[in-house]
Amino acid sequence: MPREDADQALPEAREAGLPGAVAHVYPLGSRINAAGHLEIGGCDTIELAREFGTPAYVYAEDDMRERARVVTQAFARRTERFGVVYASKAFPCTAALRLFAEAGLDCDVASGGELHMALAGGFGADRIYMHGNNKSDRELEEALAAAVGHIVVDSFDEIDRLERLTGDASQRVLLRVTPGIEPETHASIRTGQADSKFGIPMAHVGQAIERCSQAGLELRGLHAHIGSQVYALDVYEALADVLLQIGDLPLLNLGGGFGIAYTRDERPPSADEYAEAMLRGAPRDVTVLCEPGRSLVGNAGVSLYTVGTVKEIPGVRTYVSVDGGMSDNIRPMLYGAVYEADLAARFGDSTPCRIAGMHCESGDVLVPEAALEDPRPGDILVIPATGAYGHAMANNYNAVRRPPVIFCREGDARVVVRRETYDDLTLRDR
Ligand SMILES: Cc1ncc(COP(=O)(O)O)c(C=O)c1O
Repeated sequence: MPREDADQALPEAREAGLPGAVAHVYPLGSRINAAGHLEIGGCDTIELAREFGTPAYVYAEDDMRERARVVTQAFARRTERFGVVYASKAFPCTAALRLFAEAGLDCDVASGGELHMALAGGFGADRIYMHGNNKSDRELEEALAAAVGHIVVDSFDEIDRLERLTGDASQRVLLRVTPGIEPETHASIRTGQADSKFGIPMAHVGQAIERCSQAGLELRGLHAHIGSQVYALDVYEALADVLLQIGDLPLLNLGGGFGIAYTRDERPPSADEYAEAMLRGAPRDVTVLCEPGRSLVGNAGVSLYTVGTVKEIPGVRTYVSVDGGMSDNIRPMLYGAVYEADLAARFGDSTPCRIAGMHCESGDVLVPEAALEDPRPGDILVIPATGAYGHAMANNYNAVRRPPVIFCREGDARVVVRRETYDDLTLRDR
């Protein structure tokens, strides 16, 4: 599908005054309202900051629903044999899990905790895929006790453990394979290369298939996740090719990697283009699974902060410091992730600046090269596209309280995860 048509698959966000260059980075339906304030899901972000405080993760609920619908439709238009599996690590939040369960998706969990949350969010156990390169005995026991649909086996040691833990019972499994395919993306979100902790090396796959059979496991298919933010889609055809050469199995799970726009210049392929690329190499009788994470939630969420200080260092730069940072979004520090930033009540770019967090690390910088419109203390600053791996990776460095998650829809805001309290910080102490 040509890019212009693909864009039509998602309703445009830019109808009401959001600068066109960045509109696609913000949640669907975002706009500048009559007061000149950014609105997310029909809610004025300045009022949200006043009511719920900052920092806060704010999501447009309908954005997530729409993206789940669009990706499902993209596959459904082409085949009946497919599954869309939400990679819950991107945003492990019960309310979001419930939303995706209701939208008919399956769920990828990568720990006992994510399994617990997926079940709490209403996913039937049979719709859950249990991942992990080092699942503990306890996690495997939990998965078996819950009767998860599939365990994605990652090593020979895990096959041994499952053999012991399942006894005479049968368990459906996929085998995660390291296909030796490297997409063009950041090294730390690349996972398909031979030198990887994930999956069974190609040279050992035949032996692993044999071991699954000896261990009484029901091998239903193969899995590979080659990385995230995959923009060059021909790798999926190559991946299907590699996996199909291994054997004839009913399920082919090609992982995640659907990209999102973090910045104004990024134009990720559409869901239609991903579906086309993933299905291109697969025979009609094979069920193709995909595991989108960030693409279902990333652009749905923004982070709100309050500007505390604006420090001009003559001849050097201006630092705009906010009341969050590496505790609520560690991605810039972790692997140089780049974001946009705006003032919620004053879009513009008159002032080049660096947006820094409040933590005791010089590297605690959210946006190294930003441009804001005359930033001042008290302004509400918004960083879009933080819906994935923000809340998920949040931490308590400097004993900060992790922010709330607020879902907005048609002008109503509801707190789906509350802000931590100081008491929460000492709750586990003995
Ligand atoms: C096995 C697996 N599937 C899916 C995903 C989701 O990737 P993304 O959020 O880029 O879509 C990941 C991310 O780490 C993963 O490890």
